[in-house]
Amino acid sequence: MSNVIFNNMVLRDGHQSLTATRMRTEQMIPALDDLDSLGFGALETWGGATIDSGLRFLGEFPFDRLDALKKGAPKTDHMMLLRGQNIVQYSNFPDDVVEAFVKCSVKHGMDIFRIFDALNDMRNIETAVKAVKASGKHAQGTICYTSSPVHTIEKFIQTGVEIEELGCDSICIKDMAGLIPPYIAYEIIKGLKAKVKIPINIHTHETAGLGAPTYYASIEAGVDMIDTSIVPFANGTGQPDTVRMLSLLENHPRKPDYDLEKLKNLRTHFEKVYKELADFTNFSNERVDTDALTYQVPGGMLSNFRNQLKEQKMEDRFDEVFREIPHVRKCLGWIPLVTPTSQIVGVQAMLNVKFGRWKNFSPQATDIALGYYGTTPAPVDAEVRKIAAEKSGKEPIDCRPADLQESRMDKLRSELKEKGFPDDDENCVIHAMFPQELEKYYKKKKEAEEAPKNISESDGEPKRFALTIDGQRHDVLVEELN
Ligand code: CO
Repeated sequence: MSNVIFNNMVLRDGHQSLTATRMRTEQMIPALDDLDSLGFGALETWGGATIDSGLRFLGEFPFDRLDALKKGAPKTDHMMLLRGQNIVQYSNFPDDVVEAFVKCSVKHGMDIFRIFDALNDMRNIETAVKAVKASGKHAQGTICYTSSPVHTIEKFIQTGVEIEELGCDSICIKDMAGLIPPYIAYEIIKGLKAKVKIPINIHTHETAGLGAPTYYASIEAGVDMIDTSIVPFANGTGQPDTVRMLSLLENHPRKPDYDLEKLKNLRTHFEKVYKELADFTNFSNERVDTDALTYQVPGGMLSNFRNQLKEQKMEDRFDEVFREIPHVRKCLGWIPLVTPTSQIVGVQAMLNVKFGRWKNFSPQATDIALGYYGTTPAPVDAEVRKIAAEKSGKEPIDCRPADLQESRMDKLRSELKEKGFPDDDENCVIHAMFPQELEKYYKKKKEAEEAPKNISESDGEPKRFALTIDGQRHDVLVEELN
């Protein structure tokens, strides 16, 4: 069997998981030469929370980063994380916006698109997969891993078969929470290898200490690619470190060969960057924490919710809220917990504890219950669906949700024209997802041009998730889990 391939995550998931997605393009550029010459399978450079965070907090236009990274690392394939019909946001967009987004990303150098849907409803990744294939690029279909009574090994394997049938070039088993135990990964990969021909990639996090052993078991089972990162943007809530994984594979027949000297240089560089990002580092991300296993929720969601409950003056009800999560998941058809469903389930658990079960629905939980996010892994509880329909006055649906959306690109373009902003496709797709942030970006840019000495750090608002409860608007802090 051939050597296992390592993809490198330091420029996307590494800093998203350990420093709140705050690494700036200029902090990445000095590392590109070494990263590009190591021979990694791919460099994950874009997508997930990086587009939002770059625009909101760092004052960077998203496609400019992609251009800069591609220029600095032209030899290795660049990979991005795409949330299917949600693109990199929390709700569905029309097909024409998804298609334009993919086209623009290809134009700016993207090679591999890792495409997932939080519900594992493959209808939600179809448009993106087709757009990637039409551009001649690599579409990687994703199985989001979660544990629940309906998520059996067979079900995951079946999802993999669907991904191959959809025309994808490879499959990713994506364990955004670091919950997959080694032998379960082994069984899923063995099963997939018997049923599909396309290569298999596994992605996990070291949050609960299972990451590296899970990769080892996956390699034994014949996985083709694994995702690693570079210390200090590795381990803890990030991916296992590259050097550590290489040591773990010493004498293994599938051990790949990556230049340790270059890896050492990279570590030295990233240690410096990590210090520069000290405002965003925290001890609970760096340590191994088995709480994630106890609650079966992602580590980032745990720390985020401790803060959230404090804001709501509910810190004494932490255990209650976390015990409510399995109930919410069960009623909503055992949806996996990944952006955006992790936020939706967490908020609904909080509402259930605060006001009583299903007395208040968040608008997003209503939409899940009524099918507006797609088909859930198990049916939504009939009573919960009925209450959601009554309270919202909305009809349940079972079609592909994006079928209800009208084309939007023309409208987006004329909105941009009206504002006097550039109206190319790049700006249209960013405007579709982040209208206020794009507006602020151009305003600041203009100010900086008029007063060149006054270029300061962009101080964007923290990311929040809007909720309306009893007619009152509440905003809750958001941490993305990818
Ligand atoms: Co991840």
